[in-house]
Amino acid sequence: MINFDFCSPTRFIFGRGVEKQVGATAAQFGAKKVLIQYGGGSVKKSGLLDTVTASLREAGIAYVELGGVQPNPRVSLVREAIELCRKEGVDLILAVGGGSVIDSCKATGLGYYYDGDVWDFYCGKATPAKTLPVGVVLTLAAAGSEGSNSSVITNEAIHMKRGLNCELTRPAFALMNPELTFSLPAYQTACGAVDIMAHAMERYFTNTPHVELIDRMIEALIKTVMHNAPVLMENPSDYEARAEIMWAGTLAHNNLLGTGRECDWASHQLEHELSGIYDVAHGAGLAVVIPAWMKYVYKHDIARFAQFAVRVMDVEMDFFDPEKTAREGIRRLEAFYTSIGMPITLKELGVPTDRLKEMADNCKETDPSDHSTGHFIRLTHADCYEVYKLMA
Ligand code: NZQ
Ligand code: ZN
Repeated sequence: MINFDFCSPTRFIFGRGVEKQVGATAAQFGAKKVLIQYGGGSVKKSGLLDTVTASLREAGIAYVELGGVQPNPRVSLVREAIELCRKEGVDLILAVGGGSVIDSCKATGLGYYYDGDVWDFYCGKATPAKTLPVGVVLTLAAAGSEGSNSSVITNEAIHMKRGLNCELTRPAFALMNPELTFSLPAYQTACGAVDIMAHAMERYFTNTPHVELIDRMIEALIKTVMHNAPVLMENPSDYEARAEIMWAGTLAHNNLLGTGRECDWASHQLEHELSGIYDVAHGAGLAVVIPAWMKYVYKHDIARFAQFAVRVMDVEMDFFDPEKTAREGIRRLEAFYTSIGMPITLKELGVPTDRLKEMADNCKETDPSDHSTGHFIRLTHADCYEVYKLMA
């Protein structure tokens, strides 16, 4: 195990009806005027926005609203939100939605105190120093942004999607009622399950030895998601299954499962190129990327991939041919994605193959001087190109 520094300061309030506590909770964090950000309208349709505004009024908190956050949230709307916060004297930003809305709010909070363009943080030109606090009413279990230190923003003018890791962006509080996710379309629920599993897998495939406790916690989390996601394909209003998945989504990405180990993250970088250019759902993109990445790297540590196959995918260990066991684990993962309606090839995702080289060349982490990605195996642009070709 390697040294770590783990702080998950978010207050999580979980269960039926907790969204009604939003006013009182925001007041506890000193809020006087809130900017509510939301997406394309699901929260209006469900009546959640009315519940939230009523609770704020009851707590004596003023608010302004900004809807229209798109999946793969755009920097242009973030810029608009920053101006609105300054003009209105906002002191807390409230995300009512999923990962895209939360990330838009996180970026707004960082940009509020910065004189330059907020995109500077996402392209590595500047480092944030301060933020407005962000609160969350979660409507989608997927990105884990309600507890994470990350935000991912798309600069639509240059088709570039970039993530920022920054401890300042961990939300102050998150209100999590699984019932709010009953209305999700099956496709979105499945995308969420894939993303949650991906956050666990990015941490699982590590070169760090002696990480048994977290290995087993990750395995339990992935198995829990694989057990409950199919339940939701049959019955989207199963509260207990929604609850398991919602809490798994948070625990997969608040970095408890990254403690004491080096994590990978190449699959997320590879996916961000896909959703940056083609605007596909992040989870669907990951269902295509992850098996391809696995096929490209598994020989680096066959024992770890065989462990994954046996403990998570219930493959019987072939002691004479562990490689076969490892490959069967990847095959079963693909079969699981297919069973919940996820694509596993670029064709199924609806993405053409004519820009793979360009995506590979752009695939890198925030540091503009570093042209490689991932840690399990450090992937060069040439490697990324090979992984993309495996997705075709
Ligand atoms: O916009 P509305 O109308 O609200 O509809 C949304 C949106 O179309 C809909 N939706 C959300 N809650 C709903 C609902 N529809 C019906 N009922 C509900 N209760 O779902 C659609 C997708 O929403 P979005 O927020 O985009 O999904 P998700 O939570 O998967 O977030 C994806 C974004 O998060 C980023 C991704 O890259 C992507 O941009 N990520 C953020 C991370 C982080 N900040 O830590 C980590 C992740 O790896 C991920 O990269
Ligand atoms: Zn993700």
